[in-house]
Amino acid sequence: MLHKKTICLSASGLTKVFGSGRTKTVAVDHVDINLYEGEVVSIVGESGSGKTTLAKMLLGLLTPTEGEIHFQGKKRDISTHRKQREYWKNIQAIFQDPFSSYNIFRKIDSVLLDCINMRGGRNLPHEQKVEMMTEACSFVNLKFDELTNKYPFELSGGQMQRLMIARIFLLNPKILMADEPTSMIDACSRATILDMLMQLRNEIGMTVVFITHDIGLAYYVSDTVYIMEHGVFVESGTADEVILHPREAYTKRLLNDVPKIYEEWDLSTV
Ligand SMILES: Nc1ncnc2c1ncn2[C@@H]1O[C@H](COP(=O)(O)OP(=O)(O)OP(=O)(O)O)[C@@H](O)[C@H]1O
Ligand SMILES: [Mg+2]
Repeated sequence: MLHKKTICLSASGLTKVFGSGRTKTVAVDHVDINLYEGEVVSIVGESGSGKTTLAKMLLGLLTPTEGEIHFQGKKRDISTHRKQREYWKNIQAIFQDPFSSYNIFRKIDSVLLDCINMRGGRNLPHEQKVEMMTEACSFVNLKFDELTNKYPFELSGGQMQRLMIARIFLLNPKILMADEPTSMIDACSRATILDMLMQLRNEIGMTVVFITHDIGLAYYVSDTVYIMEHGVFVESGTADEVILHPREAYTKRLLNDVPKIYEEWDLSTV
């Protein structure tokens, strides 16, 4: 069991309202969250419950309507481009569709080189950069030699998502927000991606926030689970508390989908 130590990122009263009047949507409604160093946290909820909006506020991609965010004990300040860039050295994201995440007309090695440059490695000798890129690729079971001079669109979805994790490996942020990173790939690649996210935590000590509809996956990967409904956390606690002993009807409803997976497994093994 993980020993909770230092709070890395925290938010209190975090709120996002889109629109006004009759089109007003309270996407995130006074949410409190603490992310501890080296912890895997899942945020689970149905479509439209506010997961991505919350993640984007924590990432500094969306301005909160209300509430405060503290990073490493201090009030987060991303008021200038420079401070923003500094903050993004500490927190990074992987999204559902890896192909939408960056310019697909840039070659893969230049994408990885950018990461090294962002971490202050611009003046390193070329061989050392190649060594770092090779290491990052082998972390995700890709061969760097086979990727040089290729474009992202020449990769499969699973390979592309692994490349995104190789990027994270090079950027080495304190916190990774993974927003439905496995929903567009097949079950086999999904298990691989999840294992790699776990490795980022286990080997590097990264805090990983895993956002998903799938409460079964959340149980498999997380220390702490937050259940989100209509912009609020209805239940939270350790994975065992929340998923093995749910208190809320909404959590029980999300869990109702899980046994179906096992029924299918049973059928296939009969
Ligand atoms: N830019 C926006 N403008 C207006 N409304 C928005 C915007 N982004 C999100 N919303 C609304 O906020 C609510 C929460 O959306 P959000 O994308 O955070 O949900 P989600 O939990 O990530 O859903 P999904 O599981 O489908 O990704 C939804 O009602 C959505 O329509
Ligand atoms: Mg979303």
